[in-house]
Amino acid sequence: MRYSGPTRLLHWLLVPLLWGLFGFGKYLGNIEPSVSNVHLWGWHKSVGLSVFALIFIRVVWRLTHKPPEHVGVSPLQHHAAQTVHLLLYVLMVLTPLFGWIASSATGLPISIFGLVNVPLIGPEGEAAERLFFQLHGLSATALIILSIGHLAAALFHHFWRRNGLLGRMWL
Ligand code: HEM
Ligand code: HEM
Repeated sequence: MRYSGPTRLLHWLLVPLLWGLFGFGKYLGNIEPSVSNVHLWGWHKSVGLSVFALIFIRVVWRLTHKPPEHVGVSPLQHHAAQTVHLLLYVLMVLTPLFGWIASSATGLPISIFGLVNVPLIGPEGEAAERLFFQLHGLSATALIILSIGHLAAALFHHFWRRNGLLGRMWL
């Protein structure tokens, strides 16, 4: 049994987008804003919010569609996988949400590629800005570390245990 087409498509679309946004965000955290690069912050927010929309669709799809049963894994492994997957979903929602709240705290308008303005959410002010940018960075880092553990577990099952696990999610 495999995951449904939309689940597989969204899973693989989001892998490079999330890892890419992480690298992009870290890059922004290490440069000084200037007239020539200030648009990069707008791009990060635009791509981040578009990715948030994909994550929203993915979560709704997941809540309305049961995943295929695990076969040939111990109950412990099954529960460990379930826990990691749940945490990945939670972090996928929290990371862009914190980014959105943090950016709103600056009071500057937020748009998606200049096409639509999104509402500012959460409190305004320097304290909120600092707190939520910190939470944004922390949850993004937790998401990436956990996804690397998840990648390692998937490869271990597929190539070491030879139980074809990757086939369940492969396109
Ligand atoms: C899942 C999607 C996202 C990921 C993985 C991500 C990741 C990151 C990371 C890793 C950083 C650097 C944090 C640090 O080291 O302090 C960052 C910075 C930033 N993020 Fe995101 N982000 C995402 C979505 C968003 C969204 C939706 C917004 C706003 C609408 C946003 C706004 C920002 C801003 C403005 C910064 C720059 C902070 C600075 O100048 O230091 N991000 N992001
Ligand atoms: C940002 C990176 C990633 C995230 C956020 C992520 C997230 C997830 C989530 C949430 C699930 C559970 C699906 C569900 O039950 O609804 C899942 C399943 C899966 N992922 Fe990933 N994933 C990432 C990267 C990868 C990579 C790089 C691989 C490949 C080696 C991979 C292979 C799999 C496999 C094989 C499953 C099915 C596991 C099973 O049937 O128990 N994932 N992933």
